Amino acid sequence: MSNSVALTGKERTFSEDDIIVSKTDLKGRITYANKVFLDIADYTEKEVLGQPHNIIRHPEMPRSIFKLMWQTLEAGQEIFAYVINRTKHGDHYWVYAHVTPSFGRDGKIIGYHSNRRVPDRHVLDDHVKPLYRKLLDEEARPASRKDGLISAERMIADLLAENGVAYDEFIATLGRELEPA
Ligand SMILES: Cc1cc2nc3c(=O)[nH]c(=O)nc-3n(C[C@H](O)[C@H](O)[C@H](O)COP(=O)(O)O)c2cc1C
Repeated sequence: MSNSVALTGKERTFSEDDIIVSKTDLKGRITYANKVFLDIADYTEKEVLGQPHNIIRHPEMPRSIFKLMWQTLEAGQEIFAYVINRTKHGDHYWVYAHVTPSFGRDGKIIGYHSNRRVPDRHVLDDHVKPLYRKLLDEEARPASRKDGLISAERMIADLLAENGVAYDEFIATLGRELEPA
C-alpha cells in the first residue's frame, strides 16, 4: 500500500538529536514506530501499525537500493543507507538509516529494525542525490522493469568494485574528502 497523495516538493527536517525508529516483521510490515517517526511522517500509530513499510516510499528512491537493502538484511547483515521518504501529505524528508535484522534466542531473524538520523547534507547533495539520479535513470531506461533493475544493480556493483569496498563502507567513506586531513 504505497501512498498516492500528490508530492508537494516541500522538504521537512528533524533535529540532530532525534532518532526516527521503526521495527518490522519479516515481510516489512510495521510493528513499532516511535513518536519522532509518527510526527515527521504525519501518521498516527494506528495508521502505520501492520502496514507495509512502503507506505512512506518516495518515487525518487531507486528500487536497486531497496533490493540491496533486503538482500543484505536477509543475509543477516546490517546496512546503512540514505533514504528519501514521503509524508502522509506528500512532503518529503531525507534520513541516514541504519537498518539491522533482529535475532531471536535461536539465532534466527525474527524481524528488522531501523534507526534514522539527520543525513550529512554535503554527502547527500554531492554524492547520494547524483548516484540515485543515475540509478533511477538506469532503472527507467531499458524496455522492461526487470532489465532496468538488473542494470542498476550492476551499476552499484561496478561502483563498489571501482572503489574496492562493500556498500556500507562505501557509504561511510563518501564524505571523507570533506573532512580536514
Ligand atoms: C526495518 C525496515 C525499515 C524500512 N524503512 C523504510 C523507509 O523508511 N522508507 C522506505 O521507503 N522503505 C523502507 N523499508 C523498505 C520497504 O520495506 C520496501 O522495501 C520499500 O519501501 C520499497 O517498496 P516497493 O518494493 O513496494 O517499491 C524498510 C524496510 C525495513 C525492513
